[in-house]
Amino acid sequence: MRIPFIAGNWKMNMTHIQAVSFMQDLGYKFKNKNDCEIAVCPPATALKSVKTIIDGDGMDIKLGAQNMYFEFSGAFTGEISPEMLKALDVEYVIIGHSERRQYFYETNEIVNKKINAAFKIGLKPIMCIGESLDIREKGNAEEFVINQLTECLSEVDDEDIRCLTIAYEPIWAIGTGRNATPEDANNMCNAIRSRIKELYGKKNSEELRILYGGSVKPSNISELMNMSDIDGALVGGASLKVDDFLAIINY
Ligand code: PGA
Repeated sequence: MRIPFIAGNWKMNMTHIQAVSFMQDLGYKFKNKNDCEIAVCPPATALKSVKTIIDGDGMDIKLGAQNMYFEFSGAFTGEISPEMLKALDVEYVIIGHSERRQYFYETNEIVNKKINAAFKIGLKPIMCIGESLDIREKGNAEEFVINQLTECLSEVDDEDIRCLTIAYEPIWAIGTGRNATPEDANNMCNAIRSRIKELYGKKNSEELRILYGGSVKPSNISELMNMSDIDGALVGGASLKVDDFLAIINY
């Protein structure tokens, strides 16, 4: 049985002060009727403040970061190391989000280095893969996504794979209000799981959690969660509103 996992990706939103008041409101209204695992991924500048509220209120919410560098220290002005996240009690880290790939030129090779760096220090990556509209319309989506998956997992071993979460996020569905049909999303998640089975065996493929991301909202979460190979959601826009995020958690 895979435990459902709902993670909120705040992207570049909320100062640490706004984050504190968001978390207080979330804590006040909090309920989790499906016993989901829940994570919030604030900007790096708010990680410490969010963690303080989580601990202070005893909330069963995990802390995630949105990115990190693959080197462990040194002259990399502006970057944040795996160890810096670990020292803040961060548990999850989103790696290879399509916005990082699009605006900051992250390639599969860079994503792969980051994934391996995360495992090395005991952070659990949420690795994002997904195709553009162009690729989907040409009918090459599955081939493209499976290739991303394979390249990003280079040198990841059987032990590491148990700490990985994959987020399938079709780029054309992110922040557009246009989401994949539950069947299309499920088919891709199923293809991802089959590839994991080829690479890491049946047991690992059955235990791996695959999230869907792209315009997830209170109105579409239930049908997504009903799908056989979708184990949760990576939620952007709707995770910035306490009531919407809670409605998604309590689908
Ligand atoms: P969205 O973002 O829910 O706003 O579409 C999802 C994501 O980018 O992770």
